[in-house]
Order: sequence, then structure tokens, then C-alpha cells
Amino acid sequence: MVKICCIGAGYVGGPTMAVIALKCPDVEVVVVDISEARIAGWNSDRLPIYEPGLDDVVKRCRGRNLFFSTDVERYVGEADVVFVSVNTPTKTRGLGAGKAADLTYWESAARMIADVSRSDKIVVEKSTVPVKTAEAIEKILAHNGRGVRYQILSNPKFLAEGTAVRDLFAPDRVLIGGRETPEGQAAVKVLKGVYARWVPEDRIITTNLWSAELSKLAANAFLAQRISSVNAISALCEATGADVAEVACSIGKDSRIGPRFLSASVGFGGSCFQKDILNLVYICECYGLPEVAEYWRQVIGINDYQKSRFVNRVVSSMFNTVAGKKVAVLGFAFKKDTGDTRETPAIDVCRGLLGDKAVVSIYDPQVTEEQVRRDLAMRKVAVTTDAYEAARDAHAVCILTEWEDFRSLDYRRMYDVMQKPAFVFDGRNIVDPEKLRDIGFIVYAIGKPL
Ligand code: NAD
Ligand code: UGA
Repeated sequence: MVKICCIGAGYVGGPTMAVIALKCPDVEVVVVDISEARIAGWNSDRLPIYEPGLDDVVKRCRGRNLFFSTDVERYVGEADVVFVSVNTPTKTRGLGAGKAADLTYWESAARMIADVSRSDKIVVEKSTVPVKTAEAIEKILAHNGRGVRYQILSNPKFLAEGTAVRDLFAPDRVLIGGRETPEGQAAVKVLKGVYARWVPEDRIITTNLWSAELSKLAANAFLAQRISSVNAISALCEATGADVAEVACSIGKDSRIGPRFLSASVGFGGSCFQKDILNLVYICECYGLPEVAEYWRQVIGINDYQKSRFVNRVVSSMFNTVAGKKVAVLGFAFKKDTGDTRETPAIDVCRGLLGDKAVVSIYDPQVTEEQVRRDLAMRKVAVTTDAYEAARDAHAVCILTEWEDFRSLDYRRMYDVMQKPAFVFDGRNIVDPEKLRDIGFIVYAIGKPL
């Protein structure tokens, strides 16, 4: 029986530990965080993150074998396995600013582990980190360790927000990287034993440390690259009269390509794709591989292009100016089924519209007004609690998140309360352009014939 402690009660640490606690009722799992507000949230009826199915999992094991605490040092000291799931944002200043991962939180967690540990520990990298981070962490732990022995494992998380619980229950794979020494392999076996309680053995892959660290960055880069590829094709579709949905469906039928993750959009968002690709770019540059760095940088280049292309389309369609015109923005989260707005394309689109002096009114079913204001740095926008209110007197509606509810809105009702001509710019291809055109809207949808 092992005692687990996870440092970082965020989008990854919270749900991952809740599922481990659920599936391993005899294992004590404590999630610790320096943020009192976050921990208070996890201990309340209103969890600090919105994730379908999570409430139920937490309710079933909180207080039984799942605990949330700010007493970081105590629980780290008592644990056999310490997961580190702290944030690893992009550095904003100094060497590598704008690209490299900022490992400040990781390093301070490692120093704290070294300070409080009195017994041997397995330290698990759960955060996404640059390849070779484990080597640096080993140095920090060994130098302060007072004879305590540590084994570092890399166990990156592949869950996506909005489907985190489902992804944790039935992962495509669990990846565990460790040192190729007997001690390293023994640590791998302990962690494998935890996951094997509910994940089929053939889905638990073990590799060396560097392969595991790099696989995480490579997986996100490949996923983002697919979106940039289909988005690049969407621009060509608009220029030629092809339909990006038809093209994506046709190419996705090739089993070597596959149908998933080929939805053209206003651009990808989320806390990780851009950050992890920038991190990869920086690592390539550091290893003297500028051509490889440039290749991956273009994935972000196309994403930026797609967002600005969308704004330009809105402005140019509306007679080259949106100054003083109300524009309703439906959806602010970076994807459906989450309240997360980190790197959401909606921020760039709203900034672009506000830059052209539009009057912006935003509705999102999960994002709070406070969050929108923080993200837009208090720029003047209205935030409504209803899509129809956002659309009242608007000249245009921009759909920026693919919330299911937006598919079934009463667009005729919306049309009736809007200024004419009324425009719809569908950045997620969730409405039927022909049906909307029948109502009277002028419709633009990504990669679709105009
Ligand atoms: P998050 O910002 O939601 O959570 C991180 C938490 O760590 C915060 O609550 C913060 O207060 C806490 N923290 C920071 N330093 C600490 C310290 N020294 N001691 C205790 N607590 C500390 O981040 P997240 O979205 O959960 O991401 C965590 C890591 O997982 C990142 O490296 C990210 O790249 C990676 N990841 C995220 C996702 C995702 O879907 N969000 C998926 C896979 C991997
Ligand atoms: C992504 C990966 O899917 C996870 O495997 C990974 O663990 C995670 O990043 C991470 O490391 O943080 P996430 O960002 O939560 O997960 O969500 P995705 O479903 O990947 O969507 C990312 C963005 O791409 C969203 O803005 C989404 O709307 C957009 N997207 C996705 C498209 O524009 N088109 C698609 O076909 C798919």
C-alpha cells in the first residue's frame, strides 16, 4: 500500500488524483496546493474547475481516501509517491523569454520535497516539462537530500479538458518513463501497479525518462499540427469554393490519417498547445536544430493567421468597419464543456474587434464575467447571461466556442432582434449556413463556400 501526495490542485492534479482515489480505495491520496482558495474550492460543493462527471467522483471519495490540504510540507513528508503537477507556463522574461518553459514552480516544489523528506520517495513528473528536466530535478533532490533516496519518473498526462474524467477512466495509454537501473525499474513497477488497478496492462507503456518527457511535447505538437493543417486548408477552401468539412471527411477516411481532430476552427486555444510547441521550438534551438524549430513554429504561425483572418473577415464583410457596431460573441471558453479561457482564441478575436472599435457583447455558459474582464484587461465589453440578450441590436453574431447549446438556439428569434443586415460568423462550423441564410442572415463559416 502506498501513500500518494500530489503537489498542485489544478486541472490535472485534481481530476487525476480523484480518479486514482476512486479506483484504489485502499490508497490514501492527498492533493496539496499553496493556493488556499483552490483548496477551499476542492473541499466545497463548488469545485474550482468545471469538468463533466468530476463532482460525482470527488463526492464518492473525498474524506474517505481523498483529501485536499494546504499543509504541503506535512503530506509531502508522509508520502511514498509524490506527484508534481504544478503549472509550467512560458517564461516571460530572461533567457528564453516567450518560448522556454518557466520551471520556477517546479524547482521550488523539488526544493521543498528535498527539505521535508525523511524517507525514500518516488517523485513523479506530471507537469509537462522540457526533455531532460528529470536530470535537473535529480540534482536538486540529491544535493539537499540528507541521504534520502529518490527515483524520478515521468508520467505525463494526456487528458483533455471537458473530457478529463472520461480520459482518466479509459485512457488511450498511460506512459511511464524511468531510469533503466534496477531501482528505476522498481519505481516504474510501483506506479504501474497503481494504474493497473483499472487500466489494461497493454495500455501502460514504459520507456526511458527522456522518451516519456519528449513524447508529451511531441503528442501535443502533432495534435496542434493537425488543426493548423486543416485550418490552412480551410483558407484555400474559401478561396476556391471547396468545403473544408467535405475535404476533412474525405481525407479522414484514409485509415493512415484518421477522422479525429480535423475540425477547422477559428484557431486552437488552451493552456498547453502553444506553450508546449514554444517549449519544443526552444529546445530544438538549444540543441542546434533551427530547421526543426522553424517547422514547429509554423504550427503556431498558422494558428495566429487563422485568428486574424477571422477578424479580418468580420470587419471586411461588414463594409470594412465595425466601429460603433454591436457584435455579439457567443462562447469565450477555449472549447466546449469547460470554463477555462487560457489562450482562448476568443481573447484575440475580441481584442481585434475592439481594436476596430466594435461594441462587444459576450455570452458563455461557463465563463464568469470577472474572468472575461480579467482576460480582456478590463477593456469595455458587456457580458450577458443569455445569448439572445447578447444579440439584441447587434449587427453580427460571432460563434467562437462549439457549445452544444449554440446549435439549437432559436436563430430566427435572434434575427428578429438584430440590426439588418444581420451577419453570422461561425468560427466553429456548428450551424447550418443554408438554414441561417433562409432566415435572412449573411453567413460566413470557416472553410465553407460563401
Ligand atoms: P494549474 O495552473 O491549473 O494548476 C497548478 C497548481 O499548482 C496551481 O493551483 C498552483 O497554485 C499550484 N502550485 C504551483 N506551485 C506550487 C508549489 N510550489 N506548491 C504547491 N502548489 C503549487 O495547471 P494545470 O492545468 O493543472 O497544469 C499542470 C501541468 O500539467 C502543466 O505542466 C501543464 O502543462 C500540464 N498539463 C495540463 C493539462 C490540462 O488539460 N490543463 C493536460 C495535460 C498536462
Ligand atoms: C490537449 C490535448 O488534446 C490533450 O491530449 C493534452 O493532454 C492537453 O492538451 C494538454 O497537454 O494540456 P485540451 O487543450 O484540453 O487538450 O483540449 P483539445 O481538445 O485538445 O483542444 C485544444 C484546442 O484545439 C481547442 O481550442 C479546440 O477547440 C481546438 N480544436 C480541437 C480544433 O480547433 N479542432 C479540432 O479538430 C480539435
